[in-house]
Formats: sequence, C-alpha cells, structure tokens
Amino acid sequence: MQKPILISGIQSSGRAHIGNYLGMLKNAVDLQNTGRYQCYYFIADLHSITEDFNPKEKSKQILETTADCLAAGLDPKKSALFLQSQVPSHSELTWILNTITPMGELRRMTQYKEKIATGGESENVGLFDYPVLMAADILLYDAKFVPVGNDQLQHLEFTRTLARKFNSKFGKTFIEPEALLTETPRVMSLLDPNKKMSKSQPETCLFLDDSPDVIRNKVKRAVTDSGAEVQYDPAAKPGISNLLSMYSALSGEPIKKIEAEFTGKNYGHFKAMFAEVVISHFAEFRKRKKSLMRKPNKLRTILLIGSKKASRVAMLKMRSVQKNVGIAV
Ligand code: ADP
Ligand code: TRP
Repeated sequence: MQKPILISGIQSSGRAHIGNYLGMLKNAVDLQNTGRYQCYYFIADLHSITEDFNPKEKSKQILETTADCLAAGLDPKKSALFLQSQVPSHSELTWILNTITPMGELRRMTQYKEKIATGGESENVGLFDYPVLMAADILLYDAKFVPVGNDQLQHLEFTRTLARKFNSKFGKTFIEPEALLTETPRVMSLLDPNKKMSKSQPETCLFLDDSPDVIRNKVKRAVTDSGAEVQYDPAAKPGISNLLSMYSALSGEPIKKIEAEFTGKNYGHFKAMFAEVVISHFAEFRKRKKSLMRKPNKLRTILLIGSKKASRVAMLKMRSVQKNVGIAV
C-alpha cells in the first residue's frame, strides 16, 4: 500500500529561526525519519517574492534556506527536497484555483491583513493570492498531512474549503489535507512575547546558525516579565513562558521539571542556562550548515533532482485537473 503523503514548505526569505525549527522543521525531520510517509519538502521561493526583496540576494537566500533544511536533518535520500519555482505545475494549478476562489475569502486572511497593515509598496496581487498558491502546493501532491506552525492553520482551512469546492464543481480530484502541529506551534518574539517570532523582523529571532556569543546576547536581552520566579504562565508571564517552552522542546524535559530545577533562582540564572541549551543543541547544525554553504553546486544539484521527482507527480495531477475542468482537448 502507498504511504500517506506529507508536504510542507518554507519561504526563502532569510535564515531559519527557532520558531521555524520548533514549529515545523524539527517535526518535518522527525516525520521523515519514521519512514511512514512519502515526504515532499520545498523552498517556497514564489511565496517569498510577494514581499519586498533584493533580486541580487534571492538566489543566495534560496541556497541558504536549502542548507538550513539539510543541516536540520532533511535527507534528500528520504524526502524529495525541491524548489517551488522549478515545478511549473504550482503556478498552473494556482491559476485554475483562482477561478473558483471568492475574493472575500482572501480578504479576510489574517496573514494578508497583517502584512498590508504595515503599508508600503509590499501590497500586491501576489500577496493577496498567496493562500491560493499555498493550496496548489498542497493539493498537487494529494498530501494527507501538512506539518506547519499555528500561523498557517487558516491557510490550511482555506485549502480544505477550496478542495471541497473544486471536487463538487468538477468531480472528485483532490483530497483534504490535515495540519500537523507540534507542542510549540507558535514561538513568540524575543523582544515582544505577544507577537510571533518572524523572519520579517530579524531582531526578534534566534537564528539556528547564530554564534554562541550572539545567542547569549540575544537571550540576555530577551524581554521577561515582572516578578522573579521561573514559572510557566503564558497569560501573566508571556516572556518567561515562551523561553520555558523552547527550553522544554529542545531539552526534552517537561516544563514542570524545569520549573522545579529553577525554584529559588532568578530569571538571570534561567536565561544563562537556556542560552547554553540552545548553543549545544545547534552545535552540529552550525557545523553542517557552514560546510554546506561552501558547496553551492551540491545544493543546486539536490534541488534539481528533487524538483524533477516532484515535477513528475505534479504533472500527472495537473493532467487530471485539466481533464476534469474540461480544457484537455
Ligand atoms: P516566517 O513566518 O518566519 O517568515 P516561513 O513563512 O517560511 O517563516 O515559515 C516556515 C514554517 O515555520 C511554517 O510552517 C510556519 O508556520 C512555521 N513558523 C514560522 N514562524 C513560526 C513561529 N514563530 N512559531 C512556530 N512556527 C513558526
Ligand atoms: N505559507 C507558508 C509559511 O509562510 C509556507 C508554505 C508555502 C507552505 N506553501 C506551503 C507550508 C505548503 C505548507 C504547505 O509558513
């Protein structure tokens, strides 16, 4: 029997941070290593150009995100790791899905509303259409599962609605995917624990390849709360709770046990220990990423091979979409 299919994407808009890792990347690697799924992971470069970017930097960013995925443990022998723009079916299916998407549905997407609220030149049709491209990414592969952070749940719900709508209009074509969340589906910003950690605000992020000194510094400056006890209480102590949940996810120790270890000790003690946990957890990662970044051609080849593999599957699906819509003559 065919293994269930799993897909996820990460934008090539900067270095991967600990929110990407604990919300998606670590889960993607663990799921890959169970051997129970057929895995597709890709660099969402077409999504990443919906926001301001420098064309001179883009290809380097794509390779860097590829190195992030590999250094975190994605294995091209076990998963297809590919580049979204090298599989033209993603854009083709987006167009067809556009024709059954009500504008009103896109207008109420939280991520879109937040991004346009910041104003500037970034408001464009691509940004508006972002969820449709994401739906195409998923539906093309008949993916049953999608490991993502909690900020993507609305887009996934939208994908399910679109799949249902397409099926009822054109006959059964797509399956409805389900999100897979981790225990840390929403890692918060280091500087404002009420906001999500995001690549678009680099100063709020702990990047996976930050050096030990940078990690110590960022953790020291991380916003904590009034009081002095190391206690998990997201409503009253969002800052320390955010650090505690990262600590627990990285060390594998339950939060209760960590709280107990730090009874009677202050935030400073806890932060110093937390920084060391992060530093040692990503020691291997830093080494691997550095060595991968020295081999851009190897990264390019991995993407090309993955994209070829994904293209074969995606083109077959596109063919049946075209037939069902009635444009295959
Ligand atoms: P970003 O939002 O930082 O630009 P991406 O859009 O490339 O990053 O997200 C890649 C994956 O990481 C997605 O599954 C997303 O839900 C997840 N993710 C992003 N930020 C966080 C966060 N702060 N906490 C948990 N998961 C996150
Ligand atoms: N939109 C996702 C994010 O910003 C990235 C992404 C694009 C994605 N296409 C996807 C994730 C398909 C899962 C499946 O995080």
